[in-house]
Amino acid sequence: IKAFQKYRPNLHFAPKENWLNDPNGLIYFKGEYHLFFQHNPHDTIWGPMHWGHAISKDLISWEELDIALYPDDHGTIFSGSAVVDWNNTTGFFHDEPGLVAIFTHHKDSEDGRPAKQTQSLAYSTDKGRTWFKYEGNPVLSHETKIDFRDPKVFWDSDNNKWIMSLATGHTITFYSSPNLIDWKFESEFGEDKGSHDGVWECPDLFKFKTEETEEEKWVLFVSIGDNGRSDMGSRTQYFVGSFDGSVFKEEHNDVRWLDYGKDNYAGVSFSDIPEEDGRRIYLGWMSNWRYANEVPTVGWRSQMTLPRELSLRKVRDKYIINQKPVGELNRYFERNVNIKDIAIHQGESKMYNVDEPYFELFLEIAKGDENQFGISLNHTQTNRTTIEYDSKSNTVALNRDLSGEVAFSEMFSLEQSVSIDDSATLTLQIIADASSVEIFINGGIYAMTSLVYPEKICETVTISSKKGKLSIYDGYLATPSN
Ligand code: FRU
Repeated sequence: IKAFQKYRPNLHFAPKENWLNDPNGLIYFKGEYHLFFQHNPHDTIWGPMHWGHAISKDLISWEELDIALYPDDHGTIFSGSAVVDWNNTTGFFHDEPGLVAIFTHHKDSEDGRPAKQTQSLAYSTDKGRTWFKYEGNPVLSHETKIDFRDPKVFWDSDNNKWIMSLATGHTITFYSSPNLIDWKFESEFGEDKGSHDGVWECPDLFKFKTEETEEEKWVLFVSIGDNGRSDMGSRTQYFVGSFDGSVFKEEHNDVRWLDYGKDNYAGVSFSDIPEEDGRRIYLGWMSNWRYANEVPTVGWRSQMTLPRELSLRKVRDKYIINQKPVGELNRYFERNVNIKDIAIHQGESKMYNVDEPYFELFLEIAKGDENQFGISLNHTQTNRTTIEYDSKSNTVALNRDLSGEVAFSEMFSLEQSVSIDDSATLTLQIIADASSVEIFINGGIYAMTSLVYPEKICETVTISSKKGKLSIYDGYLATPSN
């Protein structure tokens, strides 16, 4: 039992047993958040995919339910999304609106025929507890394309139709439909845009009002798979631009990363968040295809990131996705140490006791001209994860090479870093759970998500100045609330 529970998170969703990857069908309906997920119920490594299922009232505490979708004659069940069919456009619902899942059926290559991916539907009239596959499946297939998957669907209220974003090799293809059953090609995006370090997967397209200027922009998330080319493995990029119901146009030429850590992949946002809530809530799979199948957990494998509230911010001339953990998380913490007006001189350090299953550290720091400091999460006497800031390069870096079990992958130990904007203050929000460290920098303009595998998440934290005087204006240490 002890080995089975080792590394099991307190604040993040992980499966009771066996393998998990991408979040699927994220949706809010009748007071419940639903999290479906890529699941192999037979083993702790990737295999024949099903949709696992969990529900939550607050996005943090999840109850795992029975498997929602099982493989059938059309194949195993790959990633996809879910919507509420409020107006019964499908004709599946007679009494009241219900849920429709739009997912990829994957068939392995056999008898010399290539693998085949098609899009299919399932629907539920009992709040996602039981699902019926649509008898007309599949509803969308392609003659030649093999990579043809991960449909993310939303109702486009400006144009009165459903829009599907689909990962089609090295592009995203948009389709539209009046009823989720008949799909029409609209356009294809991305051939010569963004990063093509790996195959494109798990798109998500949605609209935002820019925080600073109230301008309306569309954002397209695209995860890119690992083909061994970079030291980052699989990761997620995004594009900012416009969408007219048919064509997405991006407004920049640079590659924008959603996360500067290695462990946030295939994330998408929740559908049907009520208007009075109005948030765009996202979560990702907290792993990396480079080593996902090798991480050292026993009996279960992989977990999701914290759910995050997204917004679009204009920072200088750039539109940037901002992420911060959802407010629901606050209830799980009690602030018990205030860190206010503290100066740490060069060569000195300050230590805080933690020794709790999870904690949050928040710091607001004056960025000096000649500053170099580190925050060490001391898991045990010998293992630690360090977060360092250097004013010369203006970067925040996370180092986990001494964090605990690391030998399962060479890439795991390589440093992760981000160069940040030149604001006068630096804020760091660090949330550490049993086997993860998530950092939100400058209010969430930059995020860095990392797995770690220490004996214990934290005995003490030390903050030390390596160069210059470190001035902390404000901050706190928060530990589990009772
Ligand atoms: C992304 C992905 C998807 C696919 C699923 C299969 O991690 O490769 O493209 O649908 O995982 O499990």
